[in-house]
Amino acid sequence: MNAKPARLENLHTDKGKVPVYATGIVEQPWDDYSAADHDVWRQLYERQRQLLVGRASDEFLQAQGMMGMSPDRIPRFDELNRVLEAATGWTIVGVEGLLPELDFFEHLANRRFPVSWWIRRPDQLDYIEEPDLFHDLFGHVPLLMIPAFADYMQAYGKGGVKAHGLGAEALANLTRLYWYTVEFGLIRQHDGLRIYGSGIVSSKGESIHCLESDAPNRIGFDLERIMRTRYRIDSYQKTYFVIDSFEQLMDATRPDFTPIYARLAQQGSIPAGSVLDTDAVFHRGSGEGWATDGDV
Ligand code: PHE
Ligand code: FE
Repeated sequence: MNAKPARLENLHTDKGKVPVYATGIVEQPWDDYSAADHDVWRQLYERQRQLLVGRASDEFLQAQGMMGMSPDRIPRFDELNRVLEAATGWTIVGVEGLLPELDFFEHLANRRFPVSWWIRRPDQLDYIEEPDLFHDLFGHVPLLMIPAFADYMQAYGKGGVKAHGLGAEALANLTRLYWYTVEFGLIRQHDGLRIYGSGIVSSKGESIHCLESDAPNRIGFDLERIMRTRYRIDSYQKTYFVIDSFEQLMDATRPDFTPIYARLAQQGSIPAGSVLDTDAVFHRGSGEGWATDGDV
């Protein structure tokens, strides 16, 4: 396969040290994928599709089913784009890896989602530090087929451009929102808690951990609470936030965040694993049921 591109620099952020690659858009070098690359895709695709039945949200699974991805081969970006653009006006663009924040926000604000063109090695099936093609295509792209989520991602991009101009603290607040929704969000479906976050659906271990372990907190969505909550990049999350619907997410994030950032600047951040008195904590009820103290 094509050699992975060289790192240009390391960016120091809230997330620690993050490698940043060339910022340009690249053509997907589809003919250069090796049999081993296609096989990594097939193994991961089959494993996660099976695991996610009854764990990922119905909306996610349906959207993913509509994209025309198959285990047989790494999807072609141009084929996915035909389906995606017709559905919600989003397109995917090939990139070398993580982009500088402002470039990333500007893509989202224009309904373009950057996708790493390269796929992880066979010894990295269970864990990879950086977003590769599997995480991006399998995890993120299906959500862009869902109209409410597609709008949320664009609004996030526009909000990101604005936060970038306001400074590092505003940006840290906004990045936490992305982390706890887009990457690690849970949703309360009519028949129980389900996964929609891309960082979870592309990980075998976390797909099980986030729903079946008693270790993490599962807390009802609260915008300012999320914006104050630190997060882990090197282990499973200690806290997941649960939305009721993508419409709820849109409505809660519609207000101008500028005064919120100003208010939060006066408050401290919250450790990743804390539970506050004001949190709506989900407990496993009888059978498969989940409830908070606020539920009747
Ligand atoms: N309303 C936010 C702002 O004013 C923009 C935003 C929307 C951010 C949705 C995140 C998600 O900055
Ligand atoms: Fe991601």
